[in-house]
This record gives sequence, structure tokens and C-alpha cells, in this order.
Amino acid sequence: MNRFSEEFGREPAGRWAAPGRVNLIGEHVDYADGLCLPFAIAQRTVVLAAGRDDTTLRLRSVSERDTVEIDLDEVGQGSPAGWGGYAAGVLWALREGGHPVRGLDLLVTDTVPLGAGLSSSAAVECATALAADDLFGLGLGGSPEGRRELAAACVRAENEVVGAATGGMDQAAALLATAGHALLLDTHDGSTRQVPFDPADAGLQVLVIDTKVRHHLADGQYGNRRAAVEKAAATLGLPSLRGATLDQLGGLDAELARRARHTITEIARVEQVVALLDAGLVTEIGPLLDASHASLAGDYEVSCDELDLACTTARAAGALGARMVGGGFGGSAIALVPVARADVVAGAVRAAFEAAGLREPDLIDAVPSPAAARLE
Ligand code: GLA
Repeated sequence: MNRFSEEFGREPAGRWAAPGRVNLIGEHVDYADGLCLPFAIAQRTVVLAAGRDDTTLRLRSVSERDTVEIDLDEVGQGSPAGWGGYAAGVLWALREGGHPVRGLDLLVTDTVPLGAGLSSSAAVECATALAADDLFGLGLGGSPEGRRELAAACVRAENEVVGAATGGMDQAAALLATAGHALLLDTHDGSTRQVPFDPADAGLQVLVIDTKVRHHLADGQYGNRRAAVEKAAATLGLPSLRGATLDQLGGLDAELARRARHTITEIARVEQVVALLDAGLVTEIGPLLDASHASLAGDYEVSCDELDLACTTARAAGALGARMVGGGFGGSAIALVPVARADVVAGAVRAAFEAAGLREPDLIDAVPSPAAARLE
């Protein structure tokens, strides 16, 4: 018997997978009408599912001890608490959007590394969304427009049910990315463009350095940064900081001005990286990655010692550029590394972490990969 039938006493109707993501650049701007440039990675979350005729979601993950059972009619703000909120929230959001979604039996098998800042939560949301789309015949998974709607339901689940005020970058990457490309996402209007990004073709590798640390202040600080840039925009009388310029920041108090400066300069760096990638100049993006990290660490204050160490060590060992990725305060950094230097960089990072008395980081080769899909 397989795990699914052992757990639920029936066969699954199919398997769906959604990838994690790495954001090449455009960090902490997806909730500020900004531009970001994530790509999907090969690491993915796989769900097995079968539809039900009632409103019950039975949920099991091989990485959790218990099966969770949730009545979709009872899903709402903050409920259910815990990891079940991601999958339940997606079904709830689709129902709220008028879609004929009922309950599911759902088993999560493989997962994107948890807590590494590679968007394991968006992956479980997006795999669930795609399973529901197929099983209840919503017809959304087959087109970019439909996938945008699925992504929006996933964001709603995260914002309203889980209660995390995240932007939409992770879900867009998981549902809209294509292999060999980064996804330029304009969060002002939700539009996307595939930008060629094939590091291997240029003799490069994007090395993910998972620091394996997660500092406690992370959650509150995320909401606090979002509130700060919203306040900065409101103070300037603007709907958002998109299109604002540095010379408008003079009237803001010093901390708000620094937060806003990160937003404005980071959006400009995304535009510069996209121009370089469009011109086939991938080896030249390194300094922009470095500048992004400096801005996140200095102006936005979301880095930490472990992420800084990962970046400085990687650069010193031959990386063309390095930066923290995701929300910060732990999780992962990325380094753009010539393949010929990959072992040296990896060795240097491991040695530096050991010398600092830190846990050995996990190192992952991040390859621009396809979006979520039904398997076989
Ligand atoms: C987290 C959020 C994203 C984004 C990043 C920072 O990953 O889920 O929406 O805001 O942080 O860029």
C-alpha cells in the first residue's frame, strides 16, 4: 500500500508539484508596487490528492506527525492555525472567489527545504491550488491568466488565513516561472515577462547558501518594514514608492528615509539587471547583487551576521556577486559563481561557518526550472 491509501483508505487521483524559488534581485519590494526577478528552482513540494464531495480537507504531511482535518466552512482569519492554514486557506480563497471547490484528501510528500527562505509555504499553496484546479475542473492552470488567478488565491490564503502580510512574488514564481528564465514581476499591475537567465550557459552557477538560522524577530520585522514603506509613501502623498525619486525623501525622518531609499534603489537595480540579462551580459550582474545586499543590510536592516558572512566569504573566494534572498534574518543567501570556482567558494563558506562556530550551511545549486505542474 502507498502512503496515501494507508492514510486515507483510497487511491490518490494524481500528483502535483510546485517549486521553491530564488529571487535573483528585487528584495522586499513586492509589497511596495516594485519589480522583482525570481526564478523557480528544481527543489519542489509534491502533493498527492483526491477530491471529496463534502467540505472536509484531510491533510497529512510526511514531515508532520499528525493528520489535520479541517471543515472548509470554518476556515477564516487565523483559522486553522499552524501549517494546515496554507492548504486550507487556498481552498477557502478559491471558494470565496466563486469557484466550485470542495474538500480534498491531501498528502504532502517531498517538500522544498523548510525555513530556508526558498518559499516552501508558497510551494505547498501552489501545489494545492493546482490540484484543486484539476480535480474540480476550474480550468485555470492551463493559461498564464488562469495561473495568475490561482496565485492571487494563494496570496489571499497567506495574507488572510495564515496572517502573513507577504507580497505576491513567491506564488507568481511557483506558478508562472519557466526553465532557463527569471520571471520579471511588476507588482504594480501584476504583469510578468520571462527574462532569459541560464547561468550554466554562461559558465556560472547560482549557489544557494542556507545558513540554517532563523532569528526570532523575523515575523514582526517583516510587517514592520511593510508598514514603514507604506507610511513613507503616504507621507509623501503617493499611493506607493513606485516612481518616487531619492530627492523626494528629504522630508522623511531618518529611518523612514532609509527604508524608502532601499525600495527606490532596489527597483532601479532590478531594471539594470534585466537590461544586462536581455543583452546577454549575465556575468556583469554581480556588482548589482552586492549593492542589493548592502542596501538590505544597511538601509533596510533585514540581514544578519550569518547572511553577511556567507556573502563576504563567497565574494572573497571568487563569487561575482552575492546577496541575501527572501525575507531575511536568516534563511539563505545566493552567490553567483563561475562553475570553475564553485568548489572553492563552497569550501570557503563551509570553513568560515565552522571557524565562526556556526552550523554547517546547506549548499544548493539553484537551476532556473519550470513552474508548478501535474506529474505524469
Ligand atoms: C518573503 C515574502 C515575499 C517577499 C520576500 C522579500 O519571501 O514571502 O513576498 O516579500 O520575503 O522580498
